[in-house]
Amino acid sequence: MSNKQEDFIVAIDGPSASGKSTVSREAARKLKVNYVDSGAMYRGMTWKAVREGVDVKDAVAVIELMNRTRWEFFIEDLVLKFTIDGDDPTDHLRSEPVRERVADIAVIPEVRVFMVTRLRETAEFGALVMEGRDIGSVVFPDAEFKYYLDADPEERARRRHKELLETEGKGDVEQVLSSLTRRDKIDSTRKTAPLQIPLGAKVINTTGMTIDEVVDFIVDEVNATR
Ligand code: DC
Repeated sequence: MSNKQEDFIVAIDGPSASGKSTVSREAARKLKVNYVDSGAMYRGMTWKAVREGVDVKDAVAVIELMNRTRWEFFIEDLVLKFTIDGDDPTDHLRSEPVRERVADIAVIPEVRVFMVTRLRETAEFGALVMEGRDIGSVVFPDAEFKYYLDADPEERARRRHKELLETEGKGDVEQVLSSLTRRDKIDSTRKTAPLQIPLGAKVINTTGMTIDEVVDFIVDEVNATR
């Protein structure tokens, strides 16, 4: 299971809507390794708090709730999945209440310690591509491959807006841009593990690049080295 010589870690960090989710998922599929979306875990905790009526700005209440939760992890079709107290939160992770609160959950240092521990444990399932905000800097600073994906804010807002139209049938570009900017600010100015370019990470500005171009760049590089 774990620590095999051939197990490797590809860490992909970057701000919201930088293209990292699609790129990471697709790169993992092409490399035939597990895909881990670390943001899903922060979203999962947020969903649990909303469901239990816990105010996400009340760190003490969030920590108390978190310490009572039971998480189970498993791999399904090369994708890491989890349940919280037996419930599968997948369908709720992108909902508006979760989206608007998750950055506040992610600033709580105890929550980050909890998630970083869980995330490191996922390497026991084998080689993986993990995406997030602190993967190459905190979770796996020694990862063999590190990338930092970015794109201009307007481009990111356009992408997220398109996604919202597809999933919810509505969305306002200006509002998306201001929500993204607000979240970026919280993510990059928080005291614990702020969003940053990890030491040794390769920066890819995806503005004007297709998903396939970014995926191929990463996959080719990993394959060339291994
Ligand atoms: O990548 P995402 O949009 O699903 O992330 C949701 C939130 O969780 C976002 O506010 C940043 C935070 N996050 C984090 O702080 N660290 C991670 N490794 C992943 C996500």
